[in-house]
Amino acid sequence: MKRLFILLLVWGAFACQSQEHQKSLGLVADSAMVVSAHALASQVGVAILKKGGNAVDAAIAVQFALAVVFPAAGNIGGGGFMVVRQKDGSLYALDYREKAPAKASKNMYLDKDGNVIPGLSLIGHLASGVPGSVDGMVEAHKKLGTLPWKDLVQPAIDLAMNGVTLTSREAKWFNESQPDLIKYNTVKPNFLLKDNWKAGDIVKWTDLGHTLERVRDQGRAGFYEGKTADDLVAEMQRGKGIITLEDLKNYKSVWREPVTGVYKDYKIISMPPSSSGGICLIQLLKSVEPYPIKSWGFNHVKTVHLMVEAERRVYADRTKYLGDPDFYKVPVKELLNDQYNDERMSTFNPEQATPSSQVKEGKIAGYESEETTHFSIVDSHGNAVAVTTTLNGWFGSNVVVAGSGFFLNNEMDDFSVKPGVPNMFGVLGAKANSIEPNKRMLSAMTPTIVEKNHQLFMVVGTPGGSTIITSVFQTVLNVIEHDMGMQQAVDAKRFHSQWLPDVVAVEKRGLTTNDSLALVKMGHKIVNRQAIGRVDAILVLKNGKLEGGADHTRGDDTAAGY
Ligand code: DON
Repeated sequence: MKRLFILLLVWGAFACQSQEHQKSLGLVADSAMVVSAHALASQVGVAILKKGGNAVDAAIAVQFALAVVFPAAGNIGGGGFMVVRQKDGSLYALDYREKAPAKASKNMYLDKDGNVIPGLSLIGHLASGVPGSVDGMVEAHKKLGTLPWKDLVQPAIDLAMNGVTLTSREAKWFNESQPDLIKYNTVKPNFLLKDNWKAGDIVKWTDLGHTLERVRDQGRAGFYEGKTADDLVAEMQRGKGIITLEDLKNYKSVWREPVTGVYKDYKIISMPPSSSGGICLIQLLKSVEPYPIKSWGFNHVKTVHLMVEAERRVYADRTKYLGDPDFYKVPVKELLNDQYNDERMSTFNPEQATPSSQVKEGKIAGYESEETTHFSIVDSHGNAVAVTTTLNGWFGSNVVVAGSGFFLNNEMDDFSVKPGVPNMFGVLGAKANSIEPNKRMLSAMTPTIVEKNHQLFMVVGTPGGSTIITSVFQTVLNVIEHDMGMQQAVDAKRFHSQWLPDVVAVEKRGLTTNDSLALVKMGHKIVNRQAIGRVDAILVLKNGKLEGGADHTRGDDTAAGY
């Protein structure tokens, strides 16, 4: 629990030194590439591509592989979003976000006085939504896959059964997680009950391996019915959770219309609700489009000021208007309207910060009032897939389904558990994102594909909770406006602002001292924050080759390609 907060909200002292972003070139490949949070997962994806699979086949195999090699975020007990651009330009968006169980209710995390019970939506059995990842992969395979299903699940089974060698980062995470894992599990997970893991140790995931075998052999039924479902429900009953067999049977992922927008010569293709990511990203880009960011320069005071002012307005809109479109009429067209976004920026003062207390959501007629993981794939035909998937917090709810060996998400915290009470990412919500049975909780995940002149240009995304949208925003601008290559754009220091709390969080050495002081003078509150995001992205270079941007300074992320 403590770790979640340390991980996500280290608002520290003011300390900004001068910095220069390193010019680094990522892996360059002739025709195909996978960039993910773990070298083994990237290799699995490349092996599938080399076998003749397309980018969607590779994405399915990578999703399952990450559940084994990066279990803090990769998952079968969570959910996610997939954006696809086929080589012929056709677009798809798959929403396999978790759903609230049927027994969920608006005030389920409040005590009898109406106060939020700390931690209840965050950790333990009651924090989980109904998992969507396995159904999502089955649907993706049905519509767009080409290789046999079994071939896509098998690599993850092999990794689970043969064991995975820990990196030093992973050994540290495992050691730090011991107290919570022991506390929140009704049956102690045998694979982690050791507190001195070190780099080079091998972890085997036998129960998970058998669960994946059931998924390999029975598809959807291998997870949502039979032993896996029985284990999950028994786990819920032991821990006072509320997910039932009925919930599992009823879970369905949904194909949605991707949201698209134009920024200068580029077309942005991203995830619609139930993620806020695509809408907010396009709103941010539209808000800054009229300004000469390129001549101001990367992380220059004027650039940062403009971007932060756009961010506070867009996050105010997010709070009010965004939620599960199957439950709440999200005004997608209105929010993406150019005039609407111009209007939102009409109060922008180039000299002065607008306090967030003076910023409310925009007026729309008819409306009254670390852990996630991302991977990007391009195959040799030019098909592209962007997937962001998560358990929400690090190791999700910390609950492992005994007998089936996988972690459950703590996605219920992404709902607005009470109006005016921030979730673990500090973001607020309203009716649009209140808890209702079978509803999807609002996400910030922003798997995104960018086209230039109708051709594939970039595949990008990241974990990071509410910072996901701003990290993707910055990475896109780094390439388009600041002429950075993919690796350089990923390495570049990031900042983040989200309306409330009314602060600008900056990575260490993200701004020069002079720029920080100038921003403070304009009325911004600057706070230091540890790593923001873990962007994994691919850029199509002018010569047609692919450059990977793997966030290997902030994580173990790795590009692989050929
Ligand atoms: O869907 C969301 O927006 C969050 N559940 C994502 C969580 C996340 O990125 C955690 N990683 N740092």
